[in-house]
Amino acid sequence: MSNLKVAIQKSGRLSEDSLRLFKECGIKFNNGAKKLKAQSSNFPIEFLFLRDDDIPGYVEDGIADIGIVGQNVHEEYQKQIEVVKHLGFSKCRLSLAVPREEKYSDISFFEGKNIATSYPNILKKFLDTKGITAEIHQISGSVEIAPGIGLAEGICDIVSSGSTLLSNGLKEVETVMKSEAVMVADSKLSDEKRVLLNQLIFRINSVLEGKNNKYVLLNAPNASLDRIISLLPGMRSPTVLPLAQEGWSSIHSVINEDDFWENIEKLREAGAEGILVVPIEKMIK
Ligand code: PRP
Ligand code: ZN
Repeated sequence: MSNLKVAIQKSGRLSEDSLRLFKECGIKFNNGAKKLKAQSSNFPIEFLFLRDDDIPGYVEDGIADIGIVGQNVHEEYQKQIEVVKHLGFSKCRLSLAVPREEKYSDISFFEGKNIATSYPNILKKFLDTKGITAEIHQISGSVEIAPGIGLAEGICDIVSSGSTLLSNGLKEVETVMKSEAVMVADSKLSDEKRVLLNQLIFRINSVLEGKNNKYVLLNAPNASLDRIISLLPGMRSPTVLPLAQEGWSSIHSVINEDDFWENIEKLREAGAEGILVVPIEKMIK
């Protein structure tokens, strides 16, 4: 059986989260510090560790079957590949930034200016929609130092925590796009590899679904059961078990992370007590 070849970032913002995702999917492999390749011992997957900017091209050429990249990189390189899954991690934005002391009122600031970036295509499109003509200076790394060395008046780069901008005396002034990690795939995958990809996506979905939900256990007087059950619809319906103390029940269910705090308040008001909230490792609907 052939391996599914997966390209992930060698080192950078996406690397750790990408590796963790495969581990959480139960895929075992050994990635030594400087390794360029690794083979899983329990799933037909081979990992290729590459520069993120090269990943879309490798997937298009079929050197890798699938890859994990930021939407920013996918969008910049415009390769003939498909996004098969939004992964929800490594969230960041591509932004325009200028030196902190600069007076900035609006986008017209950039008219006729020099902007350094590794994302010339995305930036050009953005400036076009705003009717701004600027000189785009493409550089492949350390974009944040460009204003300081007189190479450009502003930059367009990835901002995550904002600490890179801060330590280089820059301030963020416009968001060009929001981004997160996505899984991309070669659009010409063989049927055999499609099967493997679907198995992998099934595992990823169960991991991501688990992270989005919590398992809740609580005690409640029987008189409050109907109200509590209406607040905790669960996967099909909650489990209700009698407590040793007469007139009381234990209720078990699943609750969405987004509605969590609001729901916990409502449950308390409805008479729930002894509420336990437990993380879910995998969830298959
Ligand atoms: C981006 C960007 C900054 C850093 C911003 O690099 O170029 O260096 O992240 O993060 P912060 O706001 O948390 O300081 P990226 O990880 O995309 O690496 P690459 O440009 O080398 O591919
Ligand atoms: Zn990069």
